[in-house]
Amino acid sequence: MLDIQKIRADFPILSQTVNGKPLVYFDNGATSQKPQVVIDAEVKYYQEINANIHRGVHTLSQLATDAYEVSRGKVKDHINAKFAHEVLFTSGTTHGINLVSNGFASILKPGDEVVVSSLEHHSNIVPWQMLCERTGAVLRVIPIDQNGELILSEFDALLSEKTKIVTVNHISNALGVINPIKYIIEKAHAVGAAVLIDGAQAVPHLKPDVQDLDCDFYAFSGHKMCGPTGTGILYGKEEWLNKLPPYQGGGEMIKEVTFEKTTYADLPHKFEAGTPNIAGGIVLGTAIDYLNEVGFENIQKYEEELLEHATKRLSEIEGIRIYGNTKNKASVVSFNIDGIHPYDVGSIIDKLGIAVRTGHHCAQPIMNFFCIPGTIRASFSFYNTKQEIDQMVDAVKKAQTMLS
Ligand code: ALA
Repeated sequence: MLDIQKIRADFPILSQTVNGKPLVYFDNGATSQKPQVVIDAEVKYYQEINANIHRGVHTLSQLATDAYEVSRGKVKDHINAKFAHEVLFTSGTTHGINLVSNGFASILKPGDEVVVSSLEHHSNIVPWQMLCERTGAVLRVIPIDQNGELILSEFDALLSEKTKIVTVNHISNALGVINPIKYIIEKAHAVGAAVLIDGAQAVPHLKPDVQDLDCDFYAFSGHKMCGPTGTGILYGKEEWLNKLPPYQGGGEMIKEVTFEKTTYADLPHKFEAGTPNIAGGIVLGTAIDYLNEVGFENIQKYEEELLEHATKRLSEIEGIRIYGNTKNKASVVSFNIDGIHPYDVGSIIDKLGIAVRTGHHCAQPIMNFFCIPGTIRASFSFYNTKQEIDQMVDAVKKAQTMLS
C-alpha cells in the first residue's frame, strides 16, 4: 500500500497553486514531476563533483566518471540488460530512435520493409520515413481498430522476409493502450526482423525486462520517470550495437584518429560522442532508485485504481467519448466531449488549476483515424489521487456547461 500523502510531500511542485487553485497535475504523459531527492542530487553534483568524464586523471573527473558509470549500472539492473555496455545514454527517446534508424541506413536496401504501427508518436514515425526516403525501403503500417488496439492478424500479414525492422511503442502516448509487444517481437524475429520498442510511456508505469522481452532495442526518456529532462536510454543488444555504425562522430567515441582513418571505441562509447548530460545521467540513477523504493508493483496497482475511478467518473458526463477502450491500458484517459473542441476544455480547466494535455499528442495518424482534431488527455501518476480526479470531472462538467 502506498502512503500517498507521504509520497506527495516528496514532490515540492505539487503543493503549489496555479491560477489561484491547488495544482492538479495530470500531464504526466508529457513529463513527470520530480521528487526532492532528484532535485537535490542535481544540485549536489554541481556543488561537489562537476567535471568532465572519461577524460581526466584528476580526482573530480574520476568521481564524476564513477558516478556516471554507477548510474549506467543501475539502468542495466533496472531493465535487466545482460551487459552495462548495452546501455547507451541519450538525450531522450527521440535521440535513441534516430540513432537506430540512422544506423539502419547501412543495412537496408531498396524494397526492404520497415513496419511501424498506427499508434506511434511522431518520433517513431518520422525517423523511419526519413530512413525509407534515404534507402528506398518501404514503410508498412499496422492498423488499429475502433478500440485503439493493433489488429494483429494484419500485422502477421505484413511480415515477410522483406521486413528488416519492426518498431512499435510499448504503451501508446495518446491513448494509453498497452501493446502486445512480446507477441510482436516473437513474430518479427520469426521472419528475421529486428525489433525496437519505444518505451517512453511505459517506464513510468512498469519495469521492462529486456532479456525476457527479447527486444533488440528499447528506447526511453528519463524525464517521464521522475528524472531530469534531456536524459534518456537506448538499450541495444550487443550484437546489434556492434553491427550498427556510430550515429555521431566526435570526441570519446574513437580508438584512434588519423587523417587517413579513424577506428571507433568499444561499446558503449562508440555511440556516446561529445560531452554528455553528465549531471542528468547520474541523476537518472537517483530517479530509478526512488521509483524502485516506491515499488513498481505498488505503482501499477494504485494507478489501476486511478484509471478505473477516472473512467467511471468521466463516463457520467453526457456526450463523452473515451478513446482507447482496452483491457490492457496504462493510467491514461483520452477523451472528447460532443461538440466541444478539446483545446477549449483544456483552457477552462487550466483556470481551475488542472493541467491536462490537449491536441494531437504528436500522434496525428491516430487523430486522423478517429476523424478528430485532438483529445483531452489526462495521464496519471502514482502521486495523483482520486480526489484530484473528482476535481477534474467537476471542472470538465463546468466547462461543458459554459461551452454548450
Ligand atoms: N510525448 C510526450 C507526450 O505524449 C511529450 O505528451
